[in-house]
Amino acid sequence: MIAGWRCAVCGVTVDAATPYTFTCPRSTPEDRHHVLHPVVVGDEPPVLDDINPFVAYGPRLGWWAFARTHGMTEGACIALTRDVADCFAVTPFTPSLELSDELGADVWIKDETGNVGGSHKGRHLVTTLLHLRAAEALGLGQGGTRRSLAIASCGNAAIAAAVLAQRSEWPLQVFVPAWASMAVLTHLEELGASITVCPRRREDPPGDPAIHRFREAVAAGAAAFSVQGPDNALCLDGGRTIGWEIADALTAAGESPLDRAVVQVGGGAFAAGVGWGLGPDVRIDTVQAEGCAPLARAWRRADDRGLEADEVGAHWAELMTPWDEPHSAADGILDDEAYDWLGVFDVMLRSGGRPLVAPEAAIVRAHELAESTGIPVSVTGSAGLAALLEPDGAPAPGERVAVVFSGVER
Ligand SMILES: Cc1ncc(COP(=O)(O)O)c(C=O)c1O
Ligand SMILES: [Zn+2]
Repeated sequence: MIAGWRCAVCGVTVDAATPYTFTCPRSTPEDRHHVLHPVVVGDEPPVLDDINPFVAYGPRLGWWAFARTHGMTEGACIALTRDVADCFAVTPFTPSLELSDELGADVWIKDETGNVGGSHKGRHLVTTLLHLRAAEALGLGQGGTRRSLAIASCGNAAIAAAVLAQRSEWPLQVFVPAWASMAVLTHLEELGASITVCPRRREDPPGDPAIHRFREAVAAGAAAFSVQGPDNALCLDGGRTIGWEIADALTAAGESPLDRAVVQVGGGAFAAGVGWGLGPDVRIDTVQAEGCAPLARAWRRADDRGLEADEVGAHWAELMTPWDEPHSAADGILDDEAYDWLGVFDVMLRSGGRPLVAPEAAIVRAHELAESTGIPVSVTGSAGLAALLEPDGAPAPGERVAVVFSGVER
């Protein structure tokens, strides 16, 4: 079960009972190179029998441990989950005849396209909202008024954030870049989000102006409703449910476990969650597009310097640097930095996995193949499959390997 949090950079630990464990206590606006990771001790608590993963796996989650140590009963935790997160249900995980035939392996698909807002992103966000709602119910709220939630995104994460915030009637500010699509903005507005379009200002430092405005809002008191661990570690908590679901679906069907999962990486929270949920016996290979591959570059740099697993965090500024001019048809994974690279390194190192880089042609081909399954997945959401099409990621004959299709094509 989760005992608390530990910074993967400076080693500071934070107890699970602490409210608002979003960032490392040593993280500052001048030095954001800190990230809290969940600390799991002993066996995981048994799974509750429920179709909603946030009930079923509730007792494993950080917000639940927080609420329970402050006296919330298990029944009250379940009731709160139903109120905040009733829109979640365990998503399908099935073998794919099309992909298995094409690749000569045993390929399974975890299909997240029917999840909240069309992707897995809600899994990351809902654990923050549950923590805030629990703190409020326990009288540990901040000043009695609801501080607004803030997110910088104009894609899947923003839509999931708006769906969840609306259900809880919690105000949400969404910071979007100037090029955001009108269709997404209209949808966000319909969901009641307040939108701030963020053109670059002359005085802005380098980097995405939507992120600058988001950080200003957080500095002014908004709660970081983020899908990136360094801004809010609680997103890493809920991300693990996807790995638990995959592992338990195979066990329940009497099937043998996976040999490998291949996971697309943008910021990296997704791959870290899949890996932590599946455990070290399933090899986690990650995939980025050749037009934006800061993770593989950081891995190579760490290797060149001969750094051990516990040394890389101290070298953040040298190893994980922003990618110049990210580009790919997989436009949801163009984060110029893989913010959660330390979590992703952890799951790859522990499982014997590697960061793969897919040529653009493989990303496009993977999407064509993905469409042949009939699942309406976006190019971003099928990018993991691209790894299996390349010689360094090709499956061994009969290998049991999973891909996660996330992000419905809009
Ligand atoms: C559909 C989809 N898949 C995968 C990812 C990658 O997740 P992460 O940014 O956590 O690496 C994203 C978002 O960035 C996404 O929208
Ligand atoms: Zn720290």
